[in-house]
Amino acid sequence: MTVVVVDDDGTAAAGAVQQQQQTSPGHGQTVCVTGAAGYIASWLVKLLLERGYTVKGTVRNPDDPKNAHLKKLDGAGDRLVLYKADLLDYDAIRAAVAGCHGVFHTASPVTDDPEQMVEPAVRGTEYVIKAAADACTVRRVVFTSSIGAVTMDPNRNPDVVVDESCWSDLEYCKNTKNWYCYGKAMAEQAAWDVAKERGIDLVVVNPVLVVGPLLQPTVNASAVHILKYLDGSAKKYANAVQAYVDVRNVADAHVRVFEAPGATGRYLCAERVLHREDVVHILGKLFPEYPVPTRCSDEVNPRKQPYKMTNMKLQNLGLQFIPVKDSLYETVKSLQEKGHLPLLNKEIPAELNSVIA
Ligand SMILES: NC(=O)c1ccc[n+]([C@@H]2O[C@H](COP(=O)([O-])OP(=O)(O)OC[C@H]3O[C@@H](n4cnc5c(N)ncnc54)[C@H](OP(=O)(O)O)[C@@H]3O)[C@@H](O)[C@H]2O)c1
Repeated sequence: MTVVVVDDDGTAAAGAVQQQQQTSPGHGQTVCVTGAAGYIASWLVKLLLERGYTVKGTVRNPDDPKNAHLKKLDGAGDRLVLYKADLLDYDAIRAAVAGCHGVFHTASPVTDDPEQMVEPAVRGTEYVIKAAADACTVRRVVFTSSIGAVTMDPNRNPDVVVDESCWSDLEYCKNTKNWYCYGKAMAEQAAWDVAKERGIDLVVVNPVLVVGPLLQPTVNASAVHILKYLDGSAKKYANAVQAYVDVRNVADAHVRVFEAPGATGRYLCAERVLHREDVVHILGKLFPEYPVPTRCSDEVNPRKQPYKMTNMKLQNLGLQFIPVKDSLYETVKSLQEKGHLPLLNKEIPAELNSVIA
C-alpha cells in the first residue's frame, strides 16, 4: 500500500498520480488506432487512454464535429493526437503509424455496396500492415475482422461448434451479394498474407454483431440493427439467428490480445447466439412503450436454430462477457440519451391504474 501525505500545495498528491501513471500498462507506449471515432474504436481509444497509452488516432476529417467526443475522453488532452487519413492514402497512414509500438486497425467501410466496401477494406488493410512493417517500431498489429469472415459457409455442419478455424466461403459471399462479409474475409486474408511476408506479429479479433452504449454522436450500422425494432421501422422480425457481443468487451478483447505476450491467431468475440424472436422478446419486455414487432416475417419455415460458438480463447485471456440482455438494455438507454430514440411514457399497468384512481 502507498501512503500519501498531502502537502498544502498538493505536491504529494501530484506525485501519487505520477507514480500511478508510471505503473500503468501503457505508460511510455504509443499506439495507432485507425478509424478512431467509430463505434468500437471510440471505446478502444477510451480504454487505451485509461491504461496510460499515448494514442495516435486516424479520422478522415479531424475538424468534423462527429469526432468531438474523442477530445473529451479522460487523458485525451495530453495523450491523444488525431491524424487525417483515408485508408487509400498510404502516406497518411504511414505518418500516423510512424514511431508507434502497436497498431489497432479498426477502420473499415461497413456497407454491402461492393464499390465502397471491398477496395478500402482490402487495400487499406494491406497499407496498414505495410506501414507497421516500414515503421520498424511496431511490436504487434491487432486487426478488427468480423464474424463475416468466419461463418458464411453453406457447407458448415450446423452441429459443429464455430471456432477460430472456420472461414467464410468467398464464392458463397459473392454469389449471395454479401459484400460486407466478402470484403472483411478478403481483408483478413490480406492481413495474414502481408503480415507473414513482412514479418509482422498480427493478432485478429473477430467480433460478432456489436451492441451496447455509444460514445460517438452518430448511429452506426450495428446500432441500427436494434433501433429498427424500437422506432417502428421494422414491422416484423426475420426468421434468423445472430451472435451478439457488448462493445466494451470488444474494446477489452483488443487490448488483451495486444498486451498478452502469448496471444496468437484469431479470437472470436461473442457472448451468445440469439434468434431474432429472442431479441424482440427482450426488447419488448424491457421497453414496452415502443412498437417492438411481435410477428415473424416467415410464417412457413421452421424456426432457425442458433449455431454453437466458442469464446474460450478470450475467456482464457481473462475476459468476462457482459450478458447480452444487459447490453441490449444499455444500447436502448444510450440511443435515448443521444436523442436517436424519443423518450415515450411507459404505459401504467391496469392494476396500478386502479390504485391511482
Ligand atoms: N459493429 C459491429 O457489429 C461489428 C462487428 C464485427 C466487426 N466490426 C468491425 O469493426 C470495425 C469498426 O466497426 P464499427 O462498428 O465501429 O463501425 P463504424 O462506427 O462505422 O466505424 C468504422 C470506422 O471506419 C472508418 N472508415 C470507413 N471507411 C474509411 C476509409 N476509406 N478511410 C478511413 N476510414 C474509414 C469510419 O470513418 P468515418 O467516420 O470517416 O466514416 C469509421 O470511423 C470495422 O472494421 C467493422 O468491420 C464491426
